Order: sequence, then C-alpha cells, then structure tokens
Amino acid sequence: MDKKELIRKALEAKEKAYVPYSNFHVGAALITEDDEIFTGCNIEISSYSPTICAERTAIFKAISEGHKKIKAIAVVGDSDFTYPCGVCRQVIREFSKDATIIVANSEDNYREYKLADLLPHSFGPEDLENSRSEEDV
Ligand code: THU
Repeated sequence: MDKKELIRKALEAKEKAYVPYSNFHVGAALITEDDEIFTGCNIEISSYSPTICAERTAIFKAISEGHKKIKAIAVVGDSDFTYPCGVCRQVIREFSKDATIIVANSEDNYREYKLADLLPHSFGPEDLENSRSEEDV
C-alpha cells in the first residue's frame, strides 16, 4: 500500500470540501481490501446536523460501490494533524476492526495508527451476533 499516494489523494479531496460555515477543510482517502481507492471531503449543510465528515463521505462511497473492507484511510485537515472524530472512528470500526488510520499534513509528515489505538475496547457488529431473539426475526 502506497501511503504517500493515499495522502496525496486525501489532499486532493480536501480541495473539494464544501465548508461555508466552519471554513474547516477536510479530505480523506481510503484503500479497500481489493486495492480500490475512494476519496471524500466534508460537506456542510445550513441546518448543520446533516453535515458529514470527509471520512464518512469516503467510506459510504466505498460501501455503496460494494467494498466493505477498508485496509487504510488517510485524513488531512486544516489543523496540524486532524484526527477522525468519534463518530467516524465508530463507522470505520463497523467495517474494519484492524484498519490503519493515517493522519497527515503533507505526504512526508504523517502519523500512523491502528483503529484500536484510537478506539480501544470498541463495540462492534460481533457484539450483536447472538443477541437477536426468535421474535425479532
Ligand atoms: N470534520 C471532518 O470532516 N472530519 C473529522 O474527522 C473532523 C471534523 C469536519 C466536520 C465539519 O465540516 C468540520 O470538519 C468542522 O467540524
């Protein structure tokens, strides 16, 4: 996996951020298990709550194209190192318990984590595997 390429794509995606309210630009790029790359930017809505982060834009694009397993996701934002918010960490967890998360401010300046570093003791799909009762189905 080419980390620099992923960061480059995240930087490109950041250019597309629609952020008239915060003016805080974020870009994300992820690579799937089958080596496809999907990108996303944050998109803000005037009534605020429908706003979506760059990471989730990229993840939902991948999921909706049939790619459910994320190997790695790179995130770039207007702060020095922009870390995924709690909601996005949980969304990454849904699809890839062992994903690599790269936060960067340039191709050469990045930090790398595993999802479990940023979301320890997480709750996920496996927790619900045996919980459905007969009446529910
Ligand atoms: N934002 C992201 O896109 N990703 C993050 O991980 C942190 C926050 C966006 C949401 C909003 O558009 C702006 O940054 C300010 O919160």
